[in-house]
Amino acid sequence: MTMQQPLWWQSGIIYQIYPRSFMDSNGDGIGDLRGIRSRLDYLEWLGVDAVWLSPIYPSPMADFGYDVSNYVDIDPQFGSLSDFDALLADVHRRGMKLVLDFVPNHSSDQHPWFQESRRSRDNPKSDWYIWRDPAPDGGPPNNWLSNFGGSGWTYDEARQQYYYHAFLKEQPDLNWRNSEVQDAMLEQMRFWLERGVDGFRVDVIWHLIKDEDFRNNPENPDYRPDAGSHKRLLATYTTDRPEVHDVIRKMRQLLDSYDERMMVGEIYLPVERLVTYYGAGGDGVHLPFNFQLILLPWQAETIRQAVDHYEAALPPHGWPNWVLGNHDNHRLASRFGTEHSRIAAMLLLTLRGTPTLYYGDEIGMIDVTIRPEQVQDPFEKNIPGLGLGRDPERTPMQWDGSANAGFTSGTSWLPVAPDYRTTNVAVQQEDPSSVLTLYRELIQLRRREAALSVGRYRSFCTPPGVLGYMREWGNRRLLVLLNFQPCEQRIDLEMLGGEILLSSHPGRHEREVKEHCLLRPHEGLIIALQETETP
Ligand code: GLC
Ligand code: CA
Repeated sequence: MTMQQPLWWQSGIIYQIYPRSFMDSNGDGIGDLRGIRSRLDYLEWLGVDAVWLSPIYPSPMADFGYDVSNYVDIDPQFGSLSDFDALLADVHRRGMKLVLDFVPNHSSDQHPWFQESRRSRDNPKSDWYIWRDPAPDGGPPNNWLSNFGGSGWTYDEARQQYYYHAFLKEQPDLNWRNSEVQDAMLEQMRFWLERGVDGFRVDVIWHLIKDEDFRNNPENPDYRPDAGSHKRLLATYTTDRPEVHDVIRKMRQLLDSYDERMMVGEIYLPVERLVTYYGAGGDGVHLPFNFQLILLPWQAETIRQAVDHYEAALPPHGWPNWVLGNHDNHRLASRFGTEHSRIAAMLLLTLRGTPTLYYGDEIGMIDVTIRPEQVQDPFEKNIPGLGLGRDPERTPMQWDGSANAGFTSGTSWLPVAPDYRTTNVAVQQEDPSSVLTLYRELIQLRRREAALSVGRYRSFCTPPGVLGYMREWGNRRLLVLLNFQPCEQRIDLEMLGGEILLSSHPGRHEREVKEHCLLRPHEGLIIALQETETP
């Protein structure tokens, strides 16, 4: 892999859209493809390179699109195939890429394949899902749990058997050990590749293969009931099975038969396991999502160790990536406190590796309180009251100060944030000190500076509470300093003077730094160091 000519998914920035909540074009309160198309000017202005859409396929919406009843069409709520083609053409015309969410682990129970599979034990698709006889006592075949609460097994009267579902009972798991399933699913991917999509975000890819012997999962020694009963067992025999890599290899081969298509895998695993999904070089996913910034406590020292550890664990062919937010986790400003939003932005956009940005984080959207009668997410309905629900981070994009934040002319499917009159795109575009302006400046800087987009990473020694690192490309050396503390911090640069390229906070006027610099509370700086004569 030569960094002289990085590929688009290496130097680029991915922007995740949750289609239900981005922009509604027809007043039904649900975002759609025409809505997204009408907002491409904004994405181009922001400067992102690729757009990933959460699922837009026909779906009964038991899990809001992650229950697919037809992999090769568009749900009427979102539009039609011709709307999709128009969107894709517009995205490409602007020099951007489009990535679809592919959901191979499970279909909807309304998918014709499952309808057929459940009819009898001997129909042609009887083995396309994971069917097992009841245990001798008539109960489920083993102890496997659903990630959304309760047993992972549901009994079916017609077959007098149980089927396995890692998520809702409306989301039966496909049997990826069956070669017909593999072929059929690869065909579904091909459909979109032929249409011109630039890649896939592959949903729960580490779940695809389950233990052949259906062994019981072990107890989780660290289980705490307030984490939710779905965490009671370790997912030893239901996820991260060695044979999953054979399946991924086939997906990769398909992608590689086209030009520069990309696959990013959703994988929640410790770093040592995560990096195995790069494969042996050319046969894994291009990017296994790295969720450490979502999962770790927000402390400078913890993050420094995590970055260094991740950098060291990457295989030689593995290109890094970082994610700060998504549709399954609370908004970053709510996780860390709004005072951390700015250094979080600077961190995401200056680390080495492809950044993925979740819609709305760039204007500092926070979790919206969802009243019990407003709850939509099945996770919250199944395991209520523990804060597991994902509605708070899925609320409508805040475009402007008009009714419903300019998202819809109707009634939005989830409530709009109460602060939308002040926190919105239109207001922040005009405000040089806004979070949105900072994101845009960071994106522009990343584009200008090869050191940031493709340069080397090196940790830099700083006082406690400050995270520091260098990004280097040729003679160009950029120092990033992020103050996680609510107090000033003095950083000694010794012989390293330089020029401040960007501060996360408005009101810093001096540009030159000499032997030391003072970081204001929660401030982040990017400093271009003077080129030294002798190294
Ligand atoms: C992934 C998705 C999540 C969904 C689940 C089941 O984790 O990101 O939103 O509920 O898979 O498909
Ligand atoms: Ca709509």
